[in-house]
Amino acid sequence: MSELDLILFGPPGAGKGTQADRLRDDFQLAFISTGDMLRANVKQGTQLGLEAKKYMDAGELVPDALIVAMAVERLQEEDARDGFILDGFPRTIEQAKALEKQLHDLGRRVTAALLIDVPDVEVIRRLSGRRVCVKEGHNYHIDFDPPRREGVCDQDGSQLVQRDDDKPEVIENRLRVYHENTEPLIEYYDDHGLMRRIDGTRPADDVHDHIRAVIATLRLEENV
Ligand code: AP5
Repeated sequence: MSELDLILFGPPGAGKGTQADRLRDDFQLAFISTGDMLRANVKQGTQLGLEAKKYMDAGELVPDALIVAMAVERLQEEDARDGFILDGFPRTIEQAKALEKQLHDLGRRVTAALLIDVPDVEVIRRLSGRRVCVKEGHNYHIDFDPPRREGVCDQDGSQLVQRDDDKPEVIENRLRVYHENTEPLIEYYDDHGLMRRIDGTRPADDVHDHIRAVIATLRLEENV
């Protein structure tokens, strides 16, 4: 095996998207976010988007069967052949097993699962202040990472809005769903010797440096 096949996971608002943006520039790995893929489907009004929207707006998980089919198809695309970073998938043990099977069929395996660890109180602060641009989904925070001009994306000049699932009652449900369904993956990947923990409470630059150091070590270990 020579690819780096990485999972980036953690509670909602841990900074997965923020870090993925930076890592995309650092490493030649396909970046696959199931949240972004679902939001693109919602925007385009596809059947999958219509089906997924009701779960996403409520902060619930989209059913495994829909997600696994979407993710498995994406993993077979050309750019994922030399390695990938998965953001937001797997989110249940069933999804983790489906990923394992898919990779096994391709003669590959997960290299590591990187947990960006952040407590609930910080999640609430981050998500309630998050703003995203309507064009490309670039991320900001009204206190920690404000745009130069209020309400306007620095990168493409489009409008900044609050995500529908960043309303207080939905954030609370997303956290509950995370603890119930996704947290068991910590033990799952620990048992497989694949878990790497990152302190997500540090400033975004420090978190980035830590993840880069972990990936650099993995590259040395995997000799790629
Ligand atoms: P998804 O889009 O994956 O949402 P999520 O996991 O809840 O994560 P977020 O995108 O909200 O947060 P993030 O960790 O990327 O944080 P960010 O970098 O933005 O999923 C959405 C929905 O899709 C789910 O609820 C579900 O319905 C569905 N779905 C997706 N995948 C699925 C799956 N596999 N199975 C079933 N359903 C699925 O940062 C947050 C804020 O904090 C930003 O404002 C940022 O500027 C700020 N910030 C980031 N880092 C720092 C830092 N270090 N210090 C201070 N502020 C920071």
